[in-house]
Amino acid sequence: MSKNKIAPSLLAADFGNLQRDVEMVNNSLADWHHIDIMDGVFVPNISYGMPVLKSIAQHATKTLDVHLMIVDPDRYIKTFAELGANILSVHYEACTHLHRTLQAIKTEGMMAGVALNPHTNINLLEDIINDIDIVCLMSVNPGFGGQSFIENTYNKVKNLKELIVRKNANTLIEIDGGVTSKNAKALIDAGADVLVAGSFVFKSEDPIATIKNLKDIIS
Ligand code: DX5
Ligand code: ZN
Repeated sequence: MSKNKIAPSLLAADFGNLQRDVEMVNNSLADWHHIDIMDGVFVPNISYGMPVLKSIAQHATKTLDVHLMIVDPDRYIKTFAELGANILSVHYEACTHLHRTLQAIKTEGMMAGVALNPHTNINLLEDIINDIDIVCLMSVNPGFGGQSFIENTYNKVKNLKELIVRKNANTLIEIDGGVTSKNAKALIDAGADVLVAGSFVFKSEDPIATIKNLKDIIS
């Protein structure tokens, strides 16, 4: 069994049938639930917040991978831990004291993640990579599902993988945005460990089969 993971993004779920869609992920070969929290300030969109995450957590049986697209994430680290997040990713661009933020996330018992916007160079992680459990490389501009994959992501994955190896770090690489069955294999070959997929899974006719297909491709 391969260690590579698929994390369906619930942003693309049917919110009128959220429990059903969370249970679909439970019953699939997916590895994690990817949860996108947007504040309308860091990104030009508002998704959902704590009460919805609480409901998701009540039904979800897999790792909760929470991606914060919010300014000043330090204010809510404890809250997300209490809500059941297992992985908490903050944006590099939203953190003035990233080292402190990552320690605070770990103190709350969560894996600490850093998300990078498409324009943010991975070399900026040189002095912090050993403190990061997972880097989430945005392969679209954050804020919306259903956008096209940015091709330069392949270069970023390769450079990040080199940095991780050179620094002898254990950091996972996650790709978020525009992932489909067409780019999944190339992303894994470039060094990715986890693929987030929103629209490609939830807008498909048979999401369980689509997840299985993605797992087969990356295994
Ligand atoms: C974008 C979010 C993504 C999004 C991915 O801001 O971080 O997780 O849900 O959606 P797709 O797979 O449709 O690009
Ligand atoms: Zn995301």
